[in-house]
Amino acid sequence: MLATHRGLPSAVQVESPGFIMLAPAPTTMSSAAPDGSASEGPVSRFALSAEEDLRLREAHLARAQALAHLGSWRWDMANNAVSWSTELYRIFGVDPTTFVPSNEAVHQLIHPADREQHLVSVQRALQGCPVAPFESRIIRPSGEERVVLASGFDVDRDAAGNVRTLFGAILDITERKRMQRDLEQAHGDLQRLVAAQDRVQEQERQRIARELHDDLQQSLAGIMLEAAAARAGPPVDDASDQALARIQRITAQIVRSTRQIIRDLRPQALDELGLKAALDDLARQFSQRSGVACMLHASALEGATEALVAPLATSLYRIAQEALNNVARHAHARRVRIELAVVSPGSVRLQVSDDGVGMPIGSPQRDDTFGLLGMRERARAAGGCLSISSQPGAGTTVTAEIPTRPAAPVA
Ligand SMILES: Nc1ncnc2c1ncn2[C@@H]1O[C@H](COP(=O)(O)OP(=O)(O)O)[C@@H](O)[C@H]1O
Ligand SMILES: [Mg+2]
Repeated sequence: MLATHRGLPSAVQVESPGFIMLAPAPTTMSSAAPDGSASEGPVSRFALSAEEDLRLREAHLARAQALAHLGSWRWDMANNAVSWSTELYRIFGVDPTTFVPSNEAVHQLIHPADREQHLVSVQRALQGCPVAPFESRIIRPSGEERVVLASGFDVDRDAAGNVRTLFGAILDITERKRMQRDLEQAHGDLQRLVAAQDRVQEQERQRIARELHDDLQQSLAGIMLEAAAARAGPPVDDASDQALARIQRITAQIVRSTRQIIRDLRPQALDELGLKAALDDLARQFSQRSGVACMLHASALEGATEALVAPLATSLYRIAQEALNNVARHAHARRVRIELAVVSPGSVRLQVSDDGVGMPIGSPQRDDTFGLLGMRERARAAGGCLSISSQPGAGTTVTAEIPTRPAAPVA
């Protein structure tokens, strides 16, 4: 059936609902109505017969199925006949001229480990139960393995309620699965790389902290002693005494700075007293340096953080350290709260909240800042996750939740 469609150019005609075809402008001619009166209307020289219309629709459908890698099947119960769409033959890699589709034949093409699920699904559908879409591996006669998503199992019943036909659709998701696997693999590689870099960085920090402590600190202590001894010895002139006093002051200042650098590089408390004590220290130092009030709330830990293995405790400590750095640099906060809590058995949560200006909304992601990214990757590498919530003018909260046991290495 052809009808001109208002709003479309005359050469475009709606062939039937859902199908649009291009055709020459219809020839307007007079035709006799059944009652003998003359009527005028568009009559196409290309009107389709019902058979042609059907063929055209089938061609459209086959093309759409091929583009979408989606095949369909129909199982007629009365004569136990199964019919497949052209695309389904392609998905299963079988020749439509020789392969006779049947439930048993399909069963043989399914990976042995996935056959049970297929059987159960067909049984459920025949009993009239809904069947959720499921993934299944198939093995083509060539030996190639594909992954499909079977959905449908639509049931038609006769008047007595008996199942007359089953209808289903099968989507070839092999490429999608491959991409998903590649993506997971790449992400796993990245996580392992981050974890390895973290380990190397921690070891390097420990080494530098040790050298600063054992070497530089000892030398500075030596200078202090020498200066003190010189001032306590036979009297020297005023200018020399003042110079010695300046040396003492400057050296004391360098000792204090070095001590701070050593603490930042590797907090002793983390190794000796555990995460809670180390965070307590961190909060105190942060307050002293920034002038922003900072409190640690760590209750009902019941030894959970003591049970944290060293790398996980270090991860949480470094996350807190970076979050506080950000507060000092960006937040203009008056108060910061660090909270350490056991949220579920075997899982610890660290939260750093400030009452500052909040993160700017809508600013494009910069590719030269790694603080937030580093925190997120650290949490992931420890088998946990990190989230950030922030509102303009209402502060920022960074939450990291990680298991107390290390994550299994990502394959
Ligand atoms: N506590 C915070 N308060 C306000 N803004 C923050 C806070 N933490 C992070 N930001 C915003 O997020 C951005 C990215 O942080 P980050 O990745 O650590 O990079 P950097 O600190 O080097 O800028 C910061 O530049 C800042 O705009
Ligand atoms: Mg930062």
